[in-house]
Amino acid sequence: MSLTPTRDDKFSFGLWTIGYNGTDPFGGPTRAPLDVVHAVEKLSELGAYGLTFHDDDLFAFGSTDAERQNQIDRLKQALADTGLVVPMVTTNLFSAPVFKDGGFTSNDRAVRRFALRKVLRNIDLAAELGAKTFVMWGGREGAEYDAAKDVQAALERYREAVNLLGQYVTDKGYDIRFAIEPKPNEPRGDILLPTLGHALAFIETLERPELVGINPEVGHEQMAGLNFTAGIAQALYQGKLFHIDLNGQRGIKYDQDLVFGHGDLQNAFSLVDLLENGGPNGGPAYDGPRHFDYKPSRTEDESGVWDSAAANMRTYLLLKERAAAFRADPEVQEALKSARVDELSTPTLGEGENYDQLLADRSSFEDFDANAYFNGKGFGFVRLQQLMLEHLLGARG
Ligand code: GCO
Ligand code: MN
Ligand code: MN
Repeated sequence: MSLTPTRDDKFSFGLWTIGYNGTDPFGGPTRAPLDVVHAVEKLSELGAYGLTFHDDDLFAFGSTDAERQNQIDRLKQALADTGLVVPMVTTNLFSAPVFKDGGFTSNDRAVRRFALRKVLRNIDLAAELGAKTFVMWGGREGAEYDAAKDVQAALERYREAVNLLGQYVTDKGYDIRFAIEPKPNEPRGDILLPTLGHALAFIETLERPELVGINPEVGHEQMAGLNFTAGIAQALYQGKLFHIDLNGQRGIKYDQDLVFGHGDLQNAFSLVDLLENGGPNGGPAYDGPRHFDYKPSRTEDESGVWDSAAANMRTYLLLKERAAAFRADPEVQEALKSARVDELSTPTLGEGENYDQLLADRSSFEDFDANAYFNGKGFGFVRLQQLMLEHLLGARG
């Protein structure tokens, strides 16, 4: 297995990730602005296949039509020159002061109408560039104060917005699906649709739920103390993993946006194993872009930016290689068997069995000695996890 990224690996990066200039709440930029053409050339050289962006990453908020078009043309030329694609586009509804109380769910109706127009314009651009996924991260859709936000009304306005966008792409015949990106907090004290579970439940209330899935981010679920791999498994189970943001996070704190694998490495391993080997027949469970949403630390210069971009892809490929070795190891297969991992796929009821038959089955209850059943025998989950860890550390196969 090669550790050199190729287009087939479908690695993509946000323009705002490699373009992050180091600004944080405590200090200004430590790096010069990054030009989009240079970004495309470098990503192509490193083996990525895609670039994603917010409208405001490509042309500054408030650009004239001519300035906007010039940047779009420059991007298109760079894509044509390198073969890079734009698989996803997203809209910035959080940086400009006008969005201080959100875009789709601002208490101010004029702001909501402006936000919708900004998104509609950007959907046209996404379609023009051939993007298939339109991400919606509502970082400012939320509140700090319970009394200041009617959450039920806010959800209704969110729903109104997403319904309108679904109607728009349908009427225009665009081949675009939406992916909502959950996050528990930051920049708002509390963000609406804080976890992937909230987002999945919300999607079912929409007029066109089939057009809307999720774009979960490793760090965002982990900021809420949740198991990212388990969340991704549920998103896959519900057919809603439309896109994914890979990065690293170390525990419940601010959004670190570290390089993929530089946070909870065991969870990163199980995630790659799931994405690559977790399909129903042991094949890839997800075939969309492997999108990195990380921030090169402000301690880095430009070479550190490209080193960290390459690190994301290399770590992913290393984990993919280790996960394949883990799956192929006969001892792992035996440990999986004795832990009865496969038995969970057997339905609890027999074929055609109903509750009358279950009630009539004395062996399931009356004659079942629950206390004696395991007779001192365990499942062996710890041994299995240790085998995984040893593969992760390169100590086996
Ligand atoms: C964050 C988010 C964003 C989104 C981006 C795409 O925490 O800042 O992850 O980076 O992914 O806005 O919609
Ligand atoms: Mn983030
Ligand atoms: Mn993200």
